[in-house]
Amino acid sequence: MKINKICCIGAGYVGGPTMAVIAKKNPNIQVTIVDINSERIDAWNNEDLSKLPIYEPGLSEIVKDTRGKNLFFSTDINKAIDEAEMIFISVNTPTKTYGKGKGMAADLKYVELCARNIAEVATTNKIVVEKSTLPVRTAEAIKSILHNLGTDVNFSVLSNPEFLAEGTAIQDLLNPDRVLIGGQSEDAIESLANIYKSWVNDDKILRTNIWSSELSKLTANAFLAQRVSSINSISELCEHTEANVQEVAKAIGMDSRIGSKFLNASVGFGGSCFQKDILNLVYIARSYNLNEVADYWEQVISMNDYQKRRFADRLIKTLYNTVSGKKIAMLGWAFKKDTNDTRESAAIYVADHLLNEQANISVYDPKVSKEKVIVDLNYLNTRTEKENENAISFTSDPYESFEGAHAIAIMTEWDEFKTFDWNKIYNQMKKPAFIFDGRNLLDKQKMNKIGFEYYSIGQ
Ligand code: NAD
Ligand code: UGA
Repeated sequence: MKINKICCIGAGYVGGPTMAVIAKKNPNIQVTIVDINSERIDAWNNEDLSKLPIYEPGLSEIVKDTRGKNLFFSTDINKAIDEAEMIFISVNTPTKTYGKGKGMAADLKYVELCARNIAEVATTNKIVVEKSTLPVRTAEAIKSILHNLGTDVNFSVLSNPEFLAEGTAIQDLLNPDRVLIGGQSEDAIESLANIYKSWVNDDKILRTNIWSSELSKLTANAFLAQRVSSINSISELCEHTEANVQEVAKAIGMDSRIGSKFLNASVGFGGSCFQKDILNLVYIARSYNLNEVADYWEQVISMNDYQKRRFADRLIKTLYNTVSGKKIAMLGWAFKKDTNDTRESAAIYVADHLLNEQANISVYDPKVSKEKVIVDLNYLNTRTEKENENAISFTSDPYESFEGAHAIAIMTEWDEFKTFDWNKIYNQMKKPAFIFDGRNLLDKQKMNKIGFEYYSIGQ
């Protein structure tokens, strides 16, 4: 099928950057990204490119080049569906918060709504592409919805999971390790492959059956998260044995069978997907009665929860077993650097833990707003909105948050933290001045020399 028009449902962290790159590399294809969230669409259409809803290095430049030419953002979902030959579903698939599978299974209601919307509106044949991360065998449900509405329209369903990481999304999209396309119809697969071939070598485009494609996405995230939990488990052992986790990571990472990436010990992984996708994998395994498989992967999450708790407990213990009334300056709230995304960020859980111990927290993050910090804490339902607002302060000048602070907790590895005037900060703080570096970002010797009591992960 010749593709002239693409519609992408979902203008989020995946839909936005992915479609911007497809539009940039395929100037002859018109790409329209639609969303039910009109505020988000307005933000994508904002003249001021610094106000795009998503912060990703390199994104605004591509949007500037393509928006209004062959990239459009709209709330007119039906029109975009009807006009397009190919429709990507890129909506959120969060963990279910109700009913069967609560807290484990992926909530597929948004995906189902998209499938129904497509089935109701389409008057011509369509290729429907699963871009969202979905449980294995979801395509079956999508096909069933599309084919049971009694129209003559022919639908082909493909799975094309996205492997971009936030903060490096544009680079990941421009230079992917691989593009994965799962499906039954060879024609449909090649139509999608042709779009990627505008900039990706064909030998990096993998064609698989649809179920392998769906399962590969969950598996990739599970393996990546497992590496972080594995090195984090070793970090605790290092703290008890005077081994240094960074040295251990380097030593094992130089083994080409292990590889050096994803071995940075940290306060714990965050982000919208690792936990959600592993919980989903665990749920699927249990639904097939594969309890050993489920238990194995569940441990990756338990280790991560433990690491976040352990970080907060260590801080409290070191501050003479109480943080009540003490000012803790939190550096970073985003789940990693170079993104404004805070979903499942370790900072949220560490802050919640410290607030339970009556700490006063002052947050600085270069890309996250105070409103977002409060919304994240309110979502946990640990205390009232008023209580959260009273216990947390937020500053756009980091040096304000250090004034009179008892301790600094580094939660995100923003590069700018390394360039702070740490001598000045030391003078601003109460003594002893503690730093708890949840990202092993700073130089331990340098910090000790200034006078800080410096605690990092696994050292
Ligand atoms: P997101 O929440 O940022 O964006 C999803 C968007 O879909 C929202 O703007 C929402 O309003 C919209 N939406 C929901 N239902 C809709 C409907 N019926 N019609 C129109 N719009 C609708 O989510 P995201 O981070 O972009 O993730 C999307 C999917 O991609 C998820 O399945 C996720 O697991 C997967 N994924 C995410 C990443 C990532 O880095 N965030 C990477 C790879 C894969
Ligand atoms: C992750 C995967 O890397 C992507 O391939 C995938 O597409 C995406 O999930 C998804 O499906 O959503 P992302 O969550 O954006 O991407 O970011 P990562 O770089 O994977 O980091 C995840 C978390 O792990 C962050 O909190 C990060 O700080 C932490 N991490 C990562 C570590 O603590 N140590 C490491 O060595 C690496």
